[in-house]
Amino acid sequence: MEKKKLLVTGGAGFIGGNFVQYMVNEFPQYDIYNLDLLTYAGDLTKHRQVKKKNNYHFIKADIADRKFIISLFEKEKFDYVIHFAAESHVDRSISDPSIFVQTNVLGTQILLDASKQFGISKFLHVSTDEVYGELDFDPTTFFTEETPLQPNSPYSASKASSDFLVRAYHETYGLPINITRCSNNYGPYHFPEKLIPLTISRVLNNEKVPIYGDGKNIRDWLHVYDHCAAIDLVLHQGVNGEVYNVGGHNERTNLEVVKTIIRTLGKSEDLIEFVTDRLGHDKRYAIDPTKLERLGWKPTFNFETGIAQTIQWYIDNKEWLEQIISGEYKNYFKNQYSVKQKL
Ligand code: NAD
Ligand code: DAU
Repeated sequence: MEKKKLLVTGGAGFIGGNFVQYMVNEFPQYDIYNLDLLTYAGDLTKHRQVKKKNNYHFIKADIADRKFIISLFEKEKFDYVIHFAAESHVDRSISDPSIFVQTNVLGTQILLDASKQFGISKFLHVSTDEVYGELDFDPTTFFTEETPLQPNSPYSASKASSDFLVRAYHETYGLPINITRCSNNYGPYHFPEKLIPLTISRVLNNEKVPIYGDGKNIRDWLHVYDHCAAIDLVLHQGVNGEVYNVGGHNERTNLEVVKTIIRTLGKSEDLIEFVTDRLGHDKRYAIDPTKLERLGWKPTFNFETGIAQTIQWYIDNKEWLEQIISGEYKNYFKNQYSVKQKL
């Protein structure tokens, strides 16, 4: 196989981190450059093993730092850009939208400029199903690649804006691109501000689990390893200019997800606490992955096998979780949840 230079942005985060590990191991002939600002969501301890490999490199930088990004592209002459770096948490976007515009919109535009200027072979933009807005509870309706974009939160609006910029650089300048739109991920190294790792973390410590509203909102869960394999496939075989939805038909209500975790850990459902709903809370997400399946993708986990693997991973990697929840996270949790009323 040919030698290639890959720039992975956000490779110290949850999905980008799993993707970096996947690529370093699967493609020893590729040079993988992980560029990350190491915000609250980024951590390099997860790469202890991978950093010993010759094909792994780390760069601490802000994707919104135009001068640095342009000079980096000029120096390194990347073949592919796989763009994960983002502010990713909906609740934080409701409290403070500005950084979402700065990183997700401006940061993406700067990467696009650099990619255009230095002639990369593909810009793969990792987006989300949240750009489509919400579905109602009719189980026969799904998001397809043709569903109009109707983002509801500042987070999803910033991601939709970046999707439009990626599309525009393809249409206007002929930049080779793909966009992937995946459903909710879960798995190793998921930051415990998101529902699944937050629930695992709190149940392990016999603490109450906050469920927003009535817990009937539905998400379509995909194990992060299956998302990584999908990105590998789109990177190598995706048709230039195309969007691919990623999801494995694993719809669950939030209440079902939390109850499954509590049951697996042998704890009591008394830990559940219904609290004030999220503003603008999307009812349901569900992906139609037919287009990606036609390209040859098939998930290896269903929700039952994936959640069992994930819970076991958190039990086996307690130090990783402890190091996060004992730091600045404590203030985040207090600020985010102390304003919520018990229902
Ligand atoms: P994450 O919050 O765990 O990680 C984001 C990473 O980006 C962190 O390492 C952070 O340090 C880095 N980062 C943030 N701002 C940066 C900047 N200005 N410059 C450089 N690095 C910066 O996010 P995640 O859950 O791994 O999501 C990764 C991508 O996948 C995002 O683009 C997100 O929109 C998308 N996505 C996430 C999900 C999901 O369920 N988590 C689903 C579909 C798509
Ligand atoms: O669909 C893909 C998206 O999934 C990604 O683009 C986002 O980056 C990612 O954060 C995720 O967004 P969600 O808002 O769906 O994920 P979150 O884990 O924050 O919430 C999942 C559901 O659980 C949602 O309906 C809100 C609810 N929830 C969440 C938290 C944190 C609770 O009931 N209680 C909580 O404490």
